[in-house]
Amino acid sequence: MSGIKIRGTGRCVPQHVVTNDDIAKIVETNDEWITTRTGIRRRHHCADGENHISLCTQAAQSALEKAGIRPEEIGVCIVATLTPDELVPAAACTLQQKLGLPEDTLCFDLNAACSGFLFGLHTMECLLAASPRKFGLVLGAEVLSRILNWEDRGTCILFGDGAGAAVVEWRAEWPSISAVVGTRGDNNLLRVAGVETGERSYIQMDGTKVFKFAVETVPRCMDQVLTKAGITAEDVDLFVFHQANARIIDLAVHKYHIPPEKYYKNIAKYGNTSAASIPLVLSELQDLGKIHSGSRVLAVGFGGGLTWGGALIEFA
Ligand code: COA
Repeated sequence: MSGIKIRGTGRCVPQHVVTNDDIAKIVETNDEWITTRTGIRRRHHCADGENHISLCTQAAQSALEKAGIRPEEIGVCIVATLTPDELVPAAACTLQQKLGLPEDTLCFDLNAACSGFLFGLHTMECLLAASPRKFGLVLGAEVLSRILNWEDRGTCILFGDGAGAAVVEWRAEWPSISAVVGTRGDNNLLRVAGVETGERSYIQMDGTKVFKFAVETVPRCMDQVLTKAGITAEDVDLFVFHQANARIIDLAVHKYHIPPEKYYKNIAKYGNTSAASIPLVLSELQDLGKIHSGSRVLAVGFGGGLTWGGALIEFA
């Protein structure tokens, strides 16, 4: 025994909405193609006055408020992201200052691409066990609009900006989240170039191979979490999938015979927001009243790295 539960969630997306028709004015595509191949209808992109840290701050403040936790009670703060405003200071350090977290709060960024929030929860569970304060803040936040290649219609249609946050609590008597995480170093399928090559930083992806990787990885990861937790899919109250492509979610739903009331898709509104995707779903589900104290949520994600992760998340 000993594990974390979520006490409260929050989210923030930028004001500016980019529809499929808007994108069709830039690259050769159309609403019908994007909707049927991905399930995406629109996404939010940061405009003037909005950035990564403004999204993080609003999402975190709202999660703290919902959880009824004060900033000084937070022992660890992790921001999962691949698109911080600055490499140094880390987004988590800037967020510490914005929220007024204590100086001895352990604050750092984590890059596991779209699996980042789940890597963050797993890391948080380990770290809070050793922390003098038993509340932690985990965020997934991205401004992917900054790294889009507007000449590549295979990728620029997919991604959006946003931030989701969760305040978690650790207790010795609570079960672990049974996290499963994995990594397979590979920069051929999905990559954002950095300073070494001098290339412009934008998302490069072999969509077909990533699709295949996702379709194999999601059920394998779900099975591993269920086995680790010692339960079956029927014992799960809600399934939360990384929102990368509606077809990938539909395949998993079909395989596990998941009824419509037990899963949720918001990809039509937000596109793929990478690390923000899973906490955005959690936050919407909580606001919709679909998550209650005691709810058991199986969350699963995959992404660049390659990385993947799953966890059985309970709500306090
Ligand atoms: N609009 C219109 N046509 C497009 C297009 C667009 N935006 N993007 C690609 N096409 C065309 C291609 O050029 C190709 O045309 P061709 O047959 O004449 O060569 C055709 O559509 C099929 O392209 P393909 O790449 O095979 O499409 P797809 O069905 O695999 O869908 C993705 C492409 C990107 C939507 C899909 O592969 C996908 O979602 N992959 C997973 C991506 C993912 O999850 N990434 C995030 C990981 S966290």
